Amino acid sequence: MGSNRIILRARNVHKVFQLGKNKVHVLKGVDLEVTEGQIVAVTGPSGVGKSTLLHILGTLDRPSRGTIEIDDTNVFEFDEKRLARFRNRTIGFVFQFHHLLPEFTALENVMMPGLIGGQTQDELVNRAQALLHEVGLSHRLGHRPGELSGGEMQRVAVARALMLDPKLVLADEPSGNLDQATSQLLHELLWNLSRKHNRTFIIVTHNRELAEEADKVIEISDGRIIKEQLNQIV
Ligand SMILES: Nc1ncnc2c1ncn2[C@@H]1O[C@H](COP(=O)(O)OP(=O)(O)O)[C@@H](O)[C@H]1O
Ligand SMILES: [Mg+2]
Repeated sequence: MGSNRIILRARNVHKVFQLGKNKVHVLKGVDLEVTEGQIVAVTGPSGVGKSTLLHILGTLDRPSRGTIEIDDTNVFEFDEKRLARFRNRTIGFVFQFHHLLPEFTALENVMMPGLIGGQTQDELVNRAQALLHEVGLSHRLGHRPGELSGGEMQRVAVARALMLDPKLVLADEPSGNLDQATSQLLHELLWNLSRKHNRTFIIVTHNRELAEEADKVIEISDGRIIKEQLNQIV
């Protein structure tokens, strides 16, 4: 799917956490290439380093060794301030817990990432409305997170992740707290969004069936990619 342009390249990524006197070697040399428009599913049991990898790919954490290039930029050469600006412009995040702000409406939550940019209030409202429409929540604009279902909250989180039109969207078990049917709907939404806009998604998921629908599935074990499979989507 998509072009053959490489949007993300991870080279020999290691991560060592220092826990008191102990070192925990979580990532032990991950190499990964993701092309524009690809959906990559990251699988593997709990505790093998999936979230750690996603955080590093998303530039939220620095690797102990190795490099990440995103959109032809060697991101960890940036200082924190430039890195934060790059991250805001380039990457959208969806986490297992939605992290929506409880005192704000769905519309305001989606607008939030746009408030740091130079857009007018009207432009922000229009874009947030369009995104909420796209995720099927036109009828929930004024609801606060506490007034939404789990699946709806995750849809708001997806809309928020897309607010700044990121090239790359990272999702860490976005349906981890949802029941099977709601989880299926959320995944369908993510897939549709990716296909429609040729957007690149990297999704950590436990659901094997859904992983099979990705363009590429990687399996992590003990800090390494032990299996990489390209799926032919018809
Ligand atoms: N900030 C941290 N400090 C120390 N150890 C950590 C930290 N973050 C994750 N780990 C450890 O790294 C390992 C992998 O964690 P994680 O990436 O969350 O795995 P997964 O997402 O695959 O379940 C676990 O053993 C976890 O305890
Ligand atoms: Mg995790």
